[in-house]
Amino acid sequence: MKTYTVGVIGYGGMGSYHYKRIPKPDGIRFLSAYDIDSKRLANAHRDGLETYTELDAFLADPRLDVVLVATPNNFHKELAIRAMQAGKHVICEKPVALNSAELQEMIGCSRENGVLFTVHQNRRMDKDFRIIKKIYDERQLDEVFRIESRVQGSRGIADTWRRRKVNGGGMLYDWGVHLIDQLLYMLPGKVTSVFAEFQYISQNEVDDNFRLTLTFDDGVSVLVEIGTCNFIMLPIWYMCGRKGSVQIDYWNLEGRIYHLIDNDIKFEDEIPSTLVGPSITLAPRAADTMEELPLPDAETDPGFFYKNLYEVLDQGAELTVKPDEVQRVMRIIDLAFESGKTHRVIPCDI
Ligand SMILES: NC(=O)c1ccc[n+]([C@@H]2O[C@H](COP(=O)([O-])OP(=O)(O)OC[C@H]3O[C@@H](n4cnc5c(N)ncnc54)[C@H](O)[C@@H]3O)[C@@H](O)[C@H]2O)c1
Repeated sequence: MKTYTVGVIGYGGMGSYHYKRIPKPDGIRFLSAYDIDSKRLANAHRDGLETYTELDAFLADPRLDVVLVATPNNFHKELAIRAMQAGKHVICEKPVALNSAELQEMIGCSRENGVLFTVHQNRRMDKDFRIIKKIYDERQLDEVFRIESRVQGSRGIADTWRRRKVNGGGMLYDWGVHLIDQLLYMLPGKVTSVFAEFQYISQNEVDDNFRLTLTFDDGVSVLVEIGTCNFIMLPIWYMCGRKGSVQIDYWNLEGRIYHLIDNDIKFEDEIPSTLVGPSITLAPRAADTMEELPLPDAETDPGFFYKNLYEVLDQGAELTVKPDEVQRVMRIIDLAFESGKTHRVIPCDI
């Protein structure tokens, strides 16, 4: 069995997480690390990697097959391009770049140099998303027309590069990129409009709260919402179809499906008095016309990314996270920032 070696650029939180925590097949071996911070290199050495203080020397190692770029976001493009020009395959952390033009350069470079290029969009395997995707794929709610995907916290953004505009900080780049990627991966339609609102609650430099509305050509309307100043959190997922709704409350995966079993609604002749006051339209439906179901279980595989990498390199398998898919996400991020500035709904065909 051939072994492919990986070297890390940026041995911080995520660079070391790849090495130490993400399951990998036998044919993938981490070899080395390059970082500009000597403390991070000392950590890499302690963890058993060869370390480099010079990028050129790191890239010149003929034993090295794959480079993982796990630095702050603004360095991704330059470092990925340097690695690809040195003939290395590249895995880039998310967000792959700061905009779609940067990504286009990276894709062009991978083609020119005949090397593999992919992005660590690992949240395609998160259990909450896999449950929603299963319900969607199996049409358990019939035709879906509304989806809300949300992450909220109450601690603001840590005062690191994540809070600096120059580094590509802010929540759209940080979490938005994951949630948009999940939705585009699941939904077959094309995005026909983008509208975004950004807020700057804990500081003024980068978005720490945003709401993004995407409209799809098959009529699905999607809300992606991220907050870092929410002391009561809304559900992480809410999806409505013609014959049911599903909600996932939180990461503990509590939630439920309400499924329609009888749509033969008999509207009253007189306005009923209910909890909602006098309303015919919004009076609750009869309890025996729907059933509550538990959330289904769904398969996940925390080792999918490196397993796929190995199969692509060794057997020419299809890449799971394709650059063109990530390019759709980046184009939406571009338009979201434009919409935030102009307060306009931006029509598109993505
Ligand atoms: N996919 C995920 O689930 C996930 C989770 C967390 C972070 N990330 C991504 O991983 C990347 C790194 O985030 P992090 O949390 O590990 O940050 P971090 O600050 O913990 O680590 C970044 C490392 O890069 C090094 N570095 C900075 N500039 C460099 C340069 N020019 N050349 C070489 N090294 C450099 C720093 O010294 C540091 O060791 C970001 O792009 C982030 O969005 C992804």
